Amino acid sequence: MPSTFRQWVYVRPMQDDAVDAGCFDMRTMPLPTLAEGQALVRVRLINIHSNTRMRMALGAIPLGNTDSANYACAEVIETRDPSFKVGDVIACQAGWQDYAVVSSSDAAIGYGPASAATKALNRTNSQWTYAFRPSLVKAWTSDVLMDVFGTSGMTAWFGMRECGPILPSDTVLVAGVTGSVGSLAAQIACAAGARVVGLAGSPAKCAWAVETLGIAACIDYRGEGLADRIRAAAPSGVDVFSDGAGGDLTGLVVSSMNEGGRLFSYGMTSAFYASRLNRPTGKRPLRQTFGISEDVETLLTQRNIRSECWIVDSFYDQRLAAEDALSDLLKSGALKPVNTVVEGFDKLPEAIASLYKTQSAGKLQVSFA
Ligand SMILES: NC(=O)c1ccc[n+]([C@@H]2O[C@H](COP(=O)([O-])OP(=O)(O)OC[C@H]3O[C@@H](n4cnc5c(N)ncnc54)[C@H](OP(=O)(O)O)[C@@H]3O)[C@@H](O)[C@H]2O)c1
Repeated sequence: MPSTFRQWVYVRPMQDDAVDAGCFDMRTMPLPTLAEGQALVRVRLINIHSNTRMRMALGAIPLGNTDSANYACAEVIETRDPSFKVGDVIACQAGWQDYAVVSSSDAAIGYGPASAATKALNRTNSQWTYAFRPSLVKAWTSDVLMDVFGTSGMTAWFGMRECGPILPSDTVLVAGVTGSVGSLAAQIACAAGARVVGLAGSPAKCAWAVETLGIAACIDYRGEGLADRIRAAAPSGVDVFSDGAGGDLTGLVVSSMNEGGRLFSYGMTSAFYASRLNRPTGKRPLRQTFGISEDVETLLTQRNIRSECWIVDSFYDQRLAAEDALSDLLKSGALKPVNTVVEGFDKLPEAIASLYKTQSAGKLQVSFA
């Protein structure tokens, strides 16, 4: 049993909103003795989130602190918590650490409370903390557990389900198609037989998306005449728009969507990846945060477009159904995990910095199993 653990801490403020490895420092601290109701976990893999830089800028990750809200896959190595057994592989919010103390009585960090049904399913007080079923752990590695069976896969699957049924007659336009959620949503829509068109940030990324994800076409959203190019790639119009980008793109696409279409609005990467961060002042409704401005609301009403906008934990009481469906898709070959795994706890700062420089495909993860 280790006596210490390592933790990455945000120590040096970003200069001009740029994250570099020097923003972080590692510290080593003694592991606390477990109290009743706690478990010690060895972290196997840490997900790196696109909102990290914005959270650093807004003080949600305060200087001198780790990101306690960060998701990880971990193995229980000692337990005084009846909800966890030694050997359980769990999803949790462990911070940027190699070991962590968790407790089933802890609520989610940085999110609202879990529903009663989700708490009962998870046997914890947090929507994000639960033991994966042994069948999943046996079948899939930690990176797949935290990608396809983590918040990305869940968001993609519930998003397509709530915009469904996705029909072979549908054209589904997917923003951020090289991203973690978008790459999975695109494949799920393809598996339903729809014509899927992606949006990505360069010709090379578009070529990658068509080849790897099997989508019909992909458009570089950075070029001129985007609305015309969307019309050309989707000659019968856009029926479903999966939008994790937000910003001006949302209005541009919605204004050319078919009547009776469906909008899945789940994120704001246009803000997260902007070269200079536009720090929001005050709390806005989720729909506005994700790009559904008043003008977009008007368009949605005029065109009778249904919109889905939520945080995925709203559906976490149905997590097992999503896991089973995603398992079937993986086993059939219709779905491929899309992730980039960086090996080594030491590499976490470089991995975070790289997210805002190169934006590798799918979920970025740091593994040290
Ligand atoms: N609602 C929920 O429950 C939920 C769950 C998970 C994630 N999210 C949110 O969903 C969003 C996506 O998450 P993710 O994990 O998929 O992120 P990600 O893996 O970092 O993907 C980001 C994607 O955004 C694209 N992008 C960046 N700037 C853009 C711009 N200006 N216009 C259009 N596309 C742009 C990138 O495309 P290029 O590289 O091609 O430019 C990339 O494919 C985030 O805001 C995240 O917080 C929400």
